[in-house]
Amino acid sequence: MSGHTTYVPSNKAARWFNDRLPILGMAHEFLTFPTPRNLNYFWTFGGILTVMLVMQIITGIILAMHYVADTKLAFDSVQAIKRDVNFGWLIQTMHANGATMFFIAVYIHMFRGLYFGSYKQPREVLWILGVIILLLMMATAFMGYVLPFGQMSGWGATVITNFFTAIPVVGSDLLVWLRGGYTIDQATLNRFFSLHYLLPFMIFGVVVLHVWALHAVGNNNPTGVSVKSDKDTVPFHPYMTVKDSVGLVGFALFFALFIFYMPDYFGEADNYVEFNSLKTPAHIKPEWYFLPFYAILRAIPFTLFGLPATLYGLIAMFGSIAILAFLPWLDTSKVRSTSYRPAYKIFFALFVLTCLILGYCGSQPTDKEVLRVGSKVVLDMTGLAQIFTAYYFLHFLVVLPLLGLFEKPLKLPASIADSVLDSIRPGHGLPTGAHAEPQTKG
Ligand code: HEM
Repeated sequence: MSGHTTYVPSNKAARWFNDRLPILGMAHEFLTFPTPRNLNYFWTFGGILTVMLVMQIITGIILAMHYVADTKLAFDSVQAIKRDVNFGWLIQTMHANGATMFFIAVYIHMFRGLYFGSYKQPREVLWILGVIILLLMMATAFMGYVLPFGQMSGWGATVITNFFTAIPVVGSDLLVWLRGGYTIDQATLNRFFSLHYLLPFMIFGVVVLHVWALHAVGNNNPTGVSVKSDKDTVPFHPYMTVKDSVGLVGFALFFALFIFYMPDYFGEADNYVEFNSLKTPAHIKPEWYFLPFYAILRAIPFTLFGLPATLYGLIAMFGSIAILAFLPWLDTSKVRSTSYRPAYKIFFALFVLTCLILGYCGSQPTDKEVLRVGSKVVLDMTGLAQIFTAYYFLHFLVVLPLLGLFEKPLKLPASIADSVLDSIRPGHGLPTGAHAEPQTKG
């Protein structure tokens, strides 16, 4: 494949060092890694996420130098960071908004994978490592949100940990174990701070495995067609380093918009009030990135075998993430990219819509009216969440397994190079007088 060369040290010192620690060879392998020539900007999000992770770790370490994990001081210490620490306002805003940006980037990265079938053979392990990263990210964000110890921090943690009491036999003990006591208090804050500091480094470790797995099997691409020859690829550097940099700058501008102009856009007014365990806020809801899962948690209406609905809600919520790990085997279609699957394209759009509607349901009170006929409310927010929770699971358990067997996909290009060249050959939309020549050179 093009650009894939074995490293030859350019001088004696480099050879001496590389013979003892072959890190220069590894860096060389990284830079020359053959990437499909048709990757679009959706493929820049892996790099964006890597930079975001490092930024979250660096800003987090600085915050931890000034933060005080004491229930009586935590809230004030965050305010002091914003007001009294040099550039504390910037570091704190970058970290808090960084969490939101991280999730925006990771959801784009995941939906890219879902659309282009990047989870399919031979990338199953790469995908599953991604699902593990997602779970670790969720745990990290949940515990981080408790640290400023505002009303939403404390009450969010109270509501979510309370759900665990629904687990038979061990539920109540588990709740005390998670909280380190009967309520959200000093022990909870200590353990959440400790784990919130630890988990990002675990995420970093899993990201190393994730990228390792990527290097073992190579990138997927927008056609989903596998790399067949040198003509299909270009070396990672300079082609993807430049493209990744452009993507990163674009994303940084979007991020900066929130840091400098709307730092509280994703925040909750209630979290500017210190946590008071005797005063419940009017409407407790999690951060936006948890909302679809929160809607699924609250959607299950039935009690079965004498077990509470909440337990089934918990199972459904964790199940909605766990099911992603089985995706490579649930999707029976041999064609990777949705671009060549006209029927699946419709179901994919329906799935995206489902996630958005579930997110909306999660942000609203459960008894809020959705549809009324005459004087009768025929659908409330719980009902709406139930319909779309049902579709969420149907998508994975029925649509994906069956559609692959019956759907007639479009004709795939013979190769990646052909797909690129076809789009610029005369009669394929190239403006008259434009030259296809540079792209035809392999
Ligand atoms: C901290 C979070 C993450 C980081 C830093 C990260 C990093 C990366 C990088 C650098 C790449 C290669 C460039 C690219 O394809 O964009 C990549 C590819 C990939 N990632 Fe992630 N990732 C993260 C989370 C996830 C999650 C949550 C999933 C799925 C559940 C996932 C699934 C994939 C897949 C399937 C590929 C291969 C894509 C392809 O070649 O088409 N990643 N990731």
